[in-house]
Amino acid sequence: MLIYGKVVSADTRAKLRTQVEEFEKRAGRKPCLAVIIVGEDPASQTYVRNKIAGCAEVGMRSLHYEYADGTPQSEIEKTLNDLATDDTVDGILVQLPLPKGYDERKLLSLIPDEKDVDGFSPTNLGLLAMNKPRTISCTPFGVMKMLETTGVKLEGKNAVVIGRSNTVGKPMAMLLLNANCTVTVCHSKTENLAEITSKADILVAAIGRPKFVTADMVKDGAIVIDVGINRVDGKLVGDVDFENVEKKASFITPVPGGVGPMTITMLLANTLQAAEAKANK
Ligand code: GUN
Repeated sequence: MLIYGKVVSADTRAKLRTQVEEFEKRAGRKPCLAVIIVGEDPASQTYVRNKIAGCAEVGMRSLHYEYADGTPQSEIEKTLNDLATDDTVDGILVQLPLPKGYDERKLLSLIPDEKDVDGFSPTNLGLLAMNKPRTISCTPFGVMKMLETTGVKLEGKNAVVIGRSNTVGKPMAMLLLNANCTVTVCHSKTENLAEITSKADILVAAIGRPKFVTADMVKDGAIVIDVGINRVDGKLVGDVDFENVEKKASFITPVPGGVGPMTITMLLANTLQAAEAKANK
């Protein structure tokens, strides 16, 4: 069976739209997300466009800052400092990756934890590690929502995450651990990868290599979540060899139309949550 992120995402956005309206009535303003992009990477530009469009779709305000590659870091720092202290701005994100030469850690450190709607800050990642989450990184958060729709009990299941990035693999592993799964994190140096993945009841592929997960690596009846978005000859291809793995999986996410749409929806949810936390302070 397919888990359509697109459908889960549309349902979630419809609910968000109502919640945003209610927030506006109570607070007298719309929740607001500020998005900063540096450089001309076409994939990043598409993501940013979709984030801005997502805000409009649920009735949120957005601010969009576009800087050419080569803009002095200090100029971007100034914008971040202004946004950090602007009470009408609830969420701030810097689209990654940044072009070479920028100090990513320095820039991200200027986003206050309360406005870190990506959930990338050391505090927000730390809170998740302690199972006291505040803002949860959007892609893994979306994956958990999709897993919920299967109705399958996660507790006690073997979950294997391939990929250990700070933005996806690590928070994904922590969320699954918090849901009482037995979690294994695999990566490029893992030995006997197929042996480990073929024991997974839940397999999350976040590697960034097209069709990396083949049918022989997957247990019969596994839930397979494909986080990969790879461009091959102009087409979007996931990290999972969908045609063959689909035959073995109980549930599987397609690419496109799977995890991708959920990521931006969870970003919108995080922005509303940040706005409400501020309004309730
Ligand atoms: N680049 C790819 N995914 C993401 C994301 O979720 N947030 C940000 N800021 N940049 C990204």
